[in-house]
Amino acid sequence: MFKNAIVRKPCPSMVSGLRDQDNGDPDFERAVKQHSDYCDALRQCGLEVTELESMNQFPDSVFIEDNAVLTRKCAIVARPGADSRRNETEGLAEMLSCLYESVYEITAPGTLDGGDVMMVGDYYYIGLSERTNAEGARQFIEFLKQHDMDGDTIQLEAGLHLKSSVSYLEHNQIVVTEPLTNHALLSEFKKIIIESEEAYAANSVWINDNILVPSGFPQSASAISESGLSIVELDTSEFRKLDGGLSCLSLRF
Ligand code: GLY
Repeated sequence: MFKNAIVRKPCPSMVSGLRDQDNGDPDFERAVKQHSDYCDALRQCGLEVTELESMNQFPDSVFIEDNAVLTRKCAIVARPGADSRRNETEGLAEMLSCLYESVYEITAPGTLDGGDVMMVGDYYYIGLSERTNAEGARQFIEFLKQHDMDGDTIQLEAGLHLKSSVSYLEHNQIVVTEPLTNHALLSEFKKIIIESEEAYAANSVWINDNILVPSGFPQSASAISESGLSIVELDTSEFRKLDGGLSCLSLRF
């Protein structure tokens, strides 16, 4: 069960956030509304939500998931792979030290984005992507091992982050897009396959047996609810323009 979430408010400069393809700039006012609805949904799932002030100097800072990984036993501050996001983590280790006895930080030349980390109990899958390198993953696994946890890496060929393509919904179950369906490390999971035209819905989020699903992906929503899980659909259109999904908007612990 999760009890808490940390989010960061959107900032006006998000209109110039990073994106792989140009689908238009996000509408800031609409993003603020969608973010507020997201926070309400987290609360309805039973979480205490801490809303950090926005950081206008970092256009992508609303995607706070990339800044850290909060495990059951320690916090690991990431080192974001994109130059423009590198310093989003300033002050985070100090803040997290009020919540965790053990706080680690990924250091150069390692890079790691939290969006590349999928938690399955005390085991972590780490996507090697354009943002997360082998050294970042190595340091991350070292920190895990100090607390009797472990992990392994998955080389990504497409997508921004690992969790752009696969998410753990507990109960030994994942939502996954075609390219990763047959990955050896994921072979033991029950799979809900997300069709390519709905690939964005692979970034769905388990919170206390509710599944947050982006709205507008009907096949995925019905496949997830058919598996017996209760879904909460949320509009993320403005964050999607920046390649951001539901998980990117919070740290859950
Ligand atoms: N726009 C989100 C990211 O590229 O990290």
